[in-house]
Amino acid sequence: MALVPYALTRPFLFGLDPEAAHDLTLATLARIQHTPLVFTVAQPRVADPVTIAGLRFPNRIGLAAGLDKNGRCIDGFGAMGFGFVEVGTVTPKAQPGNPRPRLFRLPEANALINRLGFNNDGLAVFIANVQRARFRERGGILGLNIGKNAATPVEQAADDYLACLDGVYPHADYVTVNISSPNTKNLRALQSDEALDALLSAIHRRDEALARRHGRRVPIFVKIAPDLDDAQIELIAATVKRSGMAGVVATNTTIAREAVKALPHGAEAGGLSGAPVFEASNRVIRRLRSALGPKVPIIGVGGVMSGADAAAKIAAGADLVQIYTGFIYRGPALVSDAARAIAARR
Ligand SMILES: Cc1cc2nc3c(=O)[nH]c(=O)nc-3n(C[C@H](O)[C@H](O)[C@H](O)COP(=O)(O)O)c2cc1C
Repeated sequence: MALVPYALTRPFLFGLDPEAAHDLTLATLARIQHTPLVFTVAQPRVADPVTIAGLRFPNRIGLAAGLDKNGRCIDGFGAMGFGFVEVGTVTPKAQPGNPRPRLFRLPEANALINRLGFNNDGLAVFIANVQRARFRERGGILGLNIGKNAATPVEQAADDYLACLDGVYPHADYVTVNISSPNTKNLRALQSDEALDALLSAIHRRDEALARRHGRRVPIFVKIAPDLDDAQIELIAATVKRSGMAGVVATNTTIAREAVKALPHGAEAGGLSGAPVFEASNRVIRRLRSALGPKVPIIGVGGVMSGADAAAKIAAGADLVQIYTGFIYRGPALVSDAARAIAARR
């Protein structure tokens, strides 16, 4: 158990504007993570080691991208028992993201809607933050998630991804190529057949060059949306295999609103996350698993609110599981609940 129960902090945080609560939490965690006060959020890491994509994960539960976009709090999250932490999405240049308000709670549905739009401090600051983190020395696995600037035309997207890949490569255990945020114009078009083939081929060529330069091959994952039909999923699976990507992160937030349209904030534009995306993500994971075969790793993410949900992601075909929205609603206890539930099912 975390020493300060989340049941006490949550009402205070939920009394604030969602983005203010987020900023306050990250600022606090950044301040305490390298001090003895980290005990207020720390809990033991569930030991359930597994090797995936050539990496030794201490357990199968990870922090999903977007909570720590600038990689400021890697050690703070590491102290909460995550086996792996994915930070970003980082873009080459700093950018402010979309106008506020751009983050909404839908507590009746255990959900969030966000249209942040990759607000981040840019690649240089990101790398400096990542270099300060000690998480990897403590056995944690660090994923670095890369994207493109809003101002970069989608035809030149590869330049942004390659610039980010060059920068993050020596500091990452794995890299995630995010082509599925609904909040950057035309980004999800990169998931379509020809664009995807061109992008992933360019990334793969650079991966080989960087592996030679650094003497170490970093596995690269592709993160996809839940709003894909079966044919699109199969095409993506084939392209991922052909282009030598290590695996897939499934899924990002959804643009669907069926489940929440009657709720306050249910019609806000952006990506919906949390419980309403659980089934849609699982469907993508199942389809992917059958299209990819048993060997290509899948990181399952979307709507995990309990240990049972985490175990269901593994049952659907995921090798690893990430959480974001569940963590906002349940706090650090979800990390150990989920890791224990997965450890217990084998
Ligand atoms: C506020 C917010 C910001 C996010 N930002 C990113 C991001 O920058 N990059 C990314 O790949 N995914 C991002 N995501 C998506 C999450 O990583 C995750 O894929 C999605 O929310 C589904 O998981 P969940 O239901 O556990 O939240 C974001 C999600 C939320 C709620």
